[in-house]
This record gives sequence, C-alpha cells and structure tokens, in this order.
Amino acid sequence: MCGIVGYIGKKEAWPILIKGLERLEYRGYDSAGIALMNDRAFFVCKKKGKVVELSKFIKNLNKEEIKKNLSGKIGIAHTRWATHGIPSDSNAHPHLSNDGTIAIVHNGIIENYLSIKKILINKGYKFKSDTDTEVLANLIEDVKKHAKVSIDEAVRLALNEVNGAYAILVISKEEPDTMVIAKLGSPVVIGVGKNEFFIASDATPIIEHTKKVIYLEDGEMAVINNKNKKFNLKIKTITDKTVKIPYIHQLKIKIEELEKGGFPHFMLKEIFEQPESLRNTMRGRIVLEKGNVKFGGLEKFKKELENLNHLTIVGMGTARFAGLIGEYAIEELSGIRTKVEYGSEFTYRDVATPYRAGLIAISQSGETADTLNAIKKAKRDKMLTLGVVNVIGSTIAREVDAGIYNHIGPETAVASTKASTSQVLLLIMLAIYLGRMRGNLSKNKSQEILKEIEKLPALVEIILKNSKHIKQLAKKYKKSENFFFLGRKYNTGAAMEGALKLKECSYIHAEGCNSAELKHGPISLIDKDFPSLVIAPIDSMYEKNKSHIQEIKARGGIVIALTTEGNKELNNIADDVIYIPKTLEILTPILAFVPMQLLAYYISVERGNDVDKPRNLAKSVTVE
Ligand code: F6R
Repeated sequence: MCGIVGYIGKKEAWPILIKGLERLEYRGYDSAGIALMNDRAFFVCKKKGKVVELSKFIKNLNKEEIKKNLSGKIGIAHTRWATHGIPSDSNAHPHLSNDGTIAIVHNGIIENYLSIKKILINKGYKFKSDTDTEVLANLIEDVKKHAKVSIDEAVRLALNEVNGAYAILVISKEEPDTMVIAKLGSPVVIGVGKNEFFIASDATPIIEHTKKVIYLEDGEMAVINNKNKKFNLKIKTITDKTVKIPYIHQLKIKIEELEKGGFPHFMLKEIFEQPESLRNTMRGRIVLEKGNVKFGGLEKFKKELENLNHLTIVGMGTARFAGLIGEYAIEELSGIRTKVEYGSEFTYRDVATPYRAGLIAISQSGETADTLNAIKKAKRDKMLTLGVVNVIGSTIAREVDAGIYNHIGPETAVASTKASTSQVLLLIMLAIYLGRMRGNLSKNKSQEILKEIEKLPALVEIILKNSKHIKQLAKKYKKSENFFFLGRKYNTGAAMEGALKLKECSYIHAEGCNSAELKHGPISLIDKDFPSLVIAPIDSMYEKNKSHIQEIKARGGIVIALTTEGNKELNNIADDVIYIPKTLEILTPILAFVPMQLLAYYISVERGNDVDKPRNLAKSVTVE
C-alpha cells in the first residue's frame, strides 16, 4: 500500500518522480505529493486524488514558476492508500516536520504513533494531518535537535523508538545533498545509475533508468550523499552495524511490459495476455516423456517434500481462491492432506503444527503483509515454506525457503487476472510434481493431465475470440444490483474468484458460493432480479449442477450457465449460456476464470468505472 519514489543525482527530479508515481499508482491512488530540494528550500505540492491531479497542477504552472519551484535534483514523492486519516491534501505525503527542515514519505504503519504524538504535543509540536507519518517526521526533528546528530543518525535513533512497518525516504534542508532510506516490513528498491540513484517501492519506476538494483533488507537503512560531486551509498542497520554493499541485482523486466500495448485498460490487456502468460508459466517445466514436472527452485528440498505429511496454503483475495482450487488438486494427485487459510488468520491462530508440515504462500506481488506474516509464523513453527510468487526479488520471494515464480511479467491492473490463472496452473503442476515424487500419481495419468495443460493457451485463445458475446451479456446485466457465482468441487474456488472480480471492478454486490450450499440458506435471496452465474462444465458434478440450475429457475431466478462447448442441453433451461472448450475436470477453473474476468471487465466499463483502479483498493496490500 502506498508507493514511494525518490531521486538523487544530476537530473531534474520532478519528471522522474511523477513518472515513477504513475507506475506505482496501483499501490494506492487517493492522494499524491512531491517534495523537491531546491537550494536549501523545499518545494512541496500535495493533491487529493490520483497522480494525474498532481501532474495537472504541476503542468499548469507557468515557466517562471516551474523554474523557481521545480528545479531540484533531489526529491521524494508518494502516492497514498489511506490508513490513518481520510484522503485529503493535508493527509497526503510528503510530510514536513514542524520547523520545516525535514521532509518524509512513508509506506507502512507506525503502530505506536499515538503515544509518540502525545509526547511530542506535550513538547509543543503541532500537527497538520491525522497521519502516523507526520509523527515520525516530528520525532526525527526532535531527536535531531536534542541529540545534535546528522539526519541519518536522527532517522536511525527515531526508528528505534517506533513499532510497525515502514519504508521511508527522508531529506533534510540542513543536509541538502543527502537522502536517507530505511526499511522494515515494507518494500524498497534502490536503482543504481551512473552517479545517480532511483529509489522506489518496487522496480517498475526504476527500469527505464537503470537495470541495476539493490534490495534493502528489513532493519536496514541506506544513506546516499554527495561527496566531491560523487554520490555515495552506505548501508547500515537500524542497530548501527555497517552492512557490506549487497549483491547488485540485474532487472529483467522490459519497459514494454509495463505499457498498455493498444488496449484501453491494463485489465483487458492482461486478460488477453493469458495464452502467453500460461505458456510462460509452464515453459521449461513440463517433462512429458517422464510424465513429470520440473521446479528448479524446489530441487534443494526434494527430501523434505517427499516426506511432507501436511500442507497449508495461505494467500489473500484472489490468491486464496487459487489456493482453494490447489487444495483439491494437491489432495487428489499427491495424497497430502491440505488446508487453505487466510494468511491473516493463520498468523494469529494457536493450532498445533502437524508433523512434517509445509506452507505454500501464494502472492502475485510478493508483498502482501497478511501472507508475509503467515510465512514468518510458519518458520517459527519449523514448517517448510514455499512461495508461488510473481514479482521476482519481492519480500515473500526472498522470505520463503524455496519458491516457484509465475514468470508472467508485471500485472498492473488492480484486479488480478493473468496472475490468477497462472497461480492455479502452478498449483496443479505442483500437485503433479508432489504426486509423482511420492508415488501417488501414475506416469500415464500424469501424462494425460500434462498433455491437456499444454493445450490450455490455445483453449484460452478460443474463449478470448468469443469475447464479443460476453460484451453483449455485460450490456444485458450491467444494471443488476446483485449476483451469485456458483460452482462445485474445483469450481467452488472459481465461483468465489468470479464474484470477487465482479464486485471489485463493477461495485455490484456479488457472492461466490458452492452450488450445493445454495439451498442451505442463500437461495432465499433469489428473485427475478438476481442473476446467478453457474459454472457447470460437463464433468463429475454436471448432473448436480444441472439440478442447482433447475432449483434457481424454479424460484424465478435468472441463470447464466457456463458450460462445455457443444452442450446444448442448458440452452433450454438457462437464460444465457457461456461456453468454454472441453478440457479435464481439474483444469476447468482455469478456463472458467477467463469469461468471468471478461464479464467483470465489460460490466465495469459499461458502468463507467475506473477499471484499472477501482475505488478504495490498492494492488499491493502491505498493511495488516
Ligand atoms: C483481486 C486481487 C486481490 C489480491 C490480494 C493478494 O483481484 O488482486 O484480492 O489477490 O490482495 O495479493 P497478492 O497476490 O499480491 O498477495
């Protein structure tokens, strides 16, 4: 949540910062701001709303004003997802300390900010915002004044007084050639250019400037300052131990992967990228002759995986729904008892850890705090921790013992699409991998599934070719106020994902539910204005699903049936039918996701919503 960007070097900072904020807007977009160091003075500009409001304001300044205010080669900027205090100009970052000498941007939460605020108020400090960040700015000022230390030392001492999570960038008028960066629990990446540094919450604002990056670890801070016209970077811990400059990573993302590529929205682009993203997910991992799957990252832990007795899958939102499908696949193919939990709940539950237990954490961003905390708990409980993560080098990817990357490139739209199908695919492939290594799955059965997996990109292509039909359905159902998404077995999780997609983008109330559960209560909601999308492919649950459809129709409800190509039977029962190509039952959720994504997308467009940035949301949820 919240995106931070910083620049220190020889170029004008503001265009780099604004562009960087645009790239990070998926992390929050209820206000944005910038602070530039301009000849020992700060130019600070903050605006409620999306980054475009801030850039409009800046672009409307006349040449004189730009020259006067915006020239500065050191700057920090922020795009906010509100936690403490409503979205407003005053709560927007950067925040200045009381005497105006220190500017800070912050991603995270200072948990003990109220008690620190009280102490500072007693000392005479005044506050202009409701944020925890302004408290930190004033704490740094206070420490600096009393300890008479440099800005980096003041930041370090202040951070020793706070609990919570942070990635912060701090600049001070009194040391106008210095930027201090610190991290605990929230991500920050430092891009290393030629005598310049680019700092951001993730690598996306950095790649157009440099491919060389350093990832700060929790509890570390970096100090960049200018000595004899050369910028130096030093890293130490918050406990004041010097850290050797760590390994400099080489980024592999291409800039084109971040652009919309002719699509009106990132969400649509990412939906249409799925044939390719599924191909990339499976690339080099299928060994058909042996009926097996290869995961380089898991090699080191083969023994432990072979002996696993229990698995817990954790994730939040879409990632957890992928986990619900994975649970079925892993239990069926590998024989390992598996349970899915919210990361947020697993962390705080006091349950006995099963013997030889493992945890699979699923996360597109690799930064979700609820999931990250679950991993930390699992490690304390001596569980083997595995990650299914998209963002390379992200916190979760680095925290787990071993991991599998999605390899699908950046996902920018807030609503997850290509990551979700890739997550389900990886969990099914993991189920095969575990099933084969433990002798639970025959070579023939495995080969049968793998052959079908290889066909998935082409099958998704077919669904995408029929997107016009879904667009028409979107026009028909755009005014609905409620929606059910129903499915059974593997498609219970798919139904939940379908509902989440619709509600988060279109703001239509939608519930995902096991179809059999409907008659145990939820069916009382059904009336002539309440559509249900029933996932009913021709599979082991088809007859049951057909009965569920009949039950809804008998109560005057509307049904959109999602079934297998060629099945004409439902045309006479359902109000509308969406077809997906024939595949194995275990793979149907991957195909079912796609039309539901398209429906959510087109309904949201019909309703005039900001599809890529739905209200109140952020893509990367780094707070609990
Ligand atoms: C919904 C969506 C969210 C995320 C959830 C976890 O479309 O994107 O529900 O799935 O916030 O995020 P990651 O996967 O980054 O851990």
